[in-house]
Amino acid sequence: MTQITVKTTCPYDILIGDGLLQRSGELARQVNNGHRALIVTDSNVAPLYSQKVAASFIRAGFETEIFTFPAGEQSKRLDTISKIYTRLAQANFTRKDLLVALGGGVTGDMTGFAAATWLRGIDFIQLPTTLLAQVDSSVGGKTGVDIPQGKNLVGAFRQPVRVVADISTLDTLTHAVFTDGMAEVIKTAAIMDASLFELLMDDRAMSSGSRRDIISRCIDIKRRVVERDEYEGGERKLLNFGHTLGHALEKHYNYSDITHGFAVAVGMNKITAASERRGLTAKGTAAKLELLLKRWGLPVADKACLEDYLSGIRLDKKRAGADIDLVLLRDSGHAFIHTLPMADLASFLAVTGEDET
Ligand code: GLY
Repeated sequence: MTQITVKTTCPYDILIGDGLLQRSGELARQVNNGHRALIVTDSNVAPLYSQKVAASFIRAGFETEIFTFPAGEQSKRLDTISKIYTRLAQANFTRKDLLVALGGGVTGDMTGFAAATWLRGIDFIQLPTTLLAQVDSSVGGKTGVDIPQGKNLVGAFRQPVRVVADISTLDTLTHAVFTDGMAEVIKTAAIMDASLFELLMDDRAMSSGSRRDIISRCIDIKRRVVERDEYEGGERKLLNFGHTLGHALEKHYNYSDITHGFAVAVGMNKITAASERRGLTAKGTAAKLELLLKRWGLPVADKACLEDYLSGIRLDKKRAGADIDLVLLRDSGHAFIHTLPMADLASFLAVTGEDET
C-alpha cells in the first residue's frame, strides 16, 4: 500500500493499493469515531461494491445505510443533494457521523458537497473507483454540483478525512470509462511532469504492473499543488488545463453526450493548438499532445463551433471580471496562466480568418 499525506488546513492520508475496499470500514474507523455512515453511490457502482463496502463498515461498528442515485453527470444537481439531506435527516445524522463517497467523480463531488453543508459540515471519506476520481477528483477537496447555467457552479472546498483508492476497481471499468480517466493522467503530465509525459507515449504504461506507480505519481503532483494553493488563488488553476473549453463542451451537450475526460481531451488539444499558433507554446507541442491523446483513444476535436464554446464559457469560474485565466502549455510538462480579456477570446481560439470546428 502506498500512503501519501496531504498537508492542507486539515491534513489527511491517501491510501493506494489493491483490495482496499474490503477494509474500507476499518480504514474509515481510524479517522472517524461516529455511529453512522451513509454510503453514497450510483447505479453502476452499487451492484459491484456497495454490499462489500457496507459489510466492512458494519464490521467496523458503523450503523450503515446506502443511498444510490442514477449514474451519470445529469444526476450531479441540487435535486440529488436534497435527497441525500432527506436521508441524513431521517437517519438522525449528527456532526460526528460520516458520509462515504463510493464511485467516480460525480459521486465524490456530490457527497463532498453534502458533507460540507449538512449541519454546516461533517466528515466524509472518498472511495474512488474510477481512474479519473483516483488521480484527480477525490483529492483536493473540491466539491459541488452543476446547474443548468454551467458545471460545478455551486460548491464548496471541503477536504475528505481520508481517501482510499483501491486500484483493483480499475479492472471492472469499461474501456471508455478507463480512457476517460486517462485524460486527467495526461493533463497532469502535460502541465507538470515532462518525464511522465514521455513515459505515457508507451501504451503499456498503465499495465497492471505499473499503474499503481503512475496513479501515485499523479496524486503526488496534485498533493503538492493543493498544499501550496488549497483554495485556488494561483497555482492550482494549472490543474484546470483543458477544462475551460472542456466544461463548455459538456454544457453544450447538456452533460449527456460527452464525458468529462473526453471533453477535457478536446479542450486541451484545442487550446494548445491555439496557443502554439499565437507563439505562446513551443513549436511541436500541440502535435505531441495530439499524438498522446490519440494513442490512448481520446478525442482531439469535436463538431461544436466556436460560438458553442464561447457561450459555454460566459459563466466559467476561471473568469475574473472582464478577463479569463487560460491555462496554456509552455511545452509538454510545463504550464502557465495566461490572462486574456474575454473580448479577445474568440480571436485567440479562431483559426485565422474562420472559426475552427
Ligand atoms: N480538478 C482540479 C482541481 O482539483 O483543482
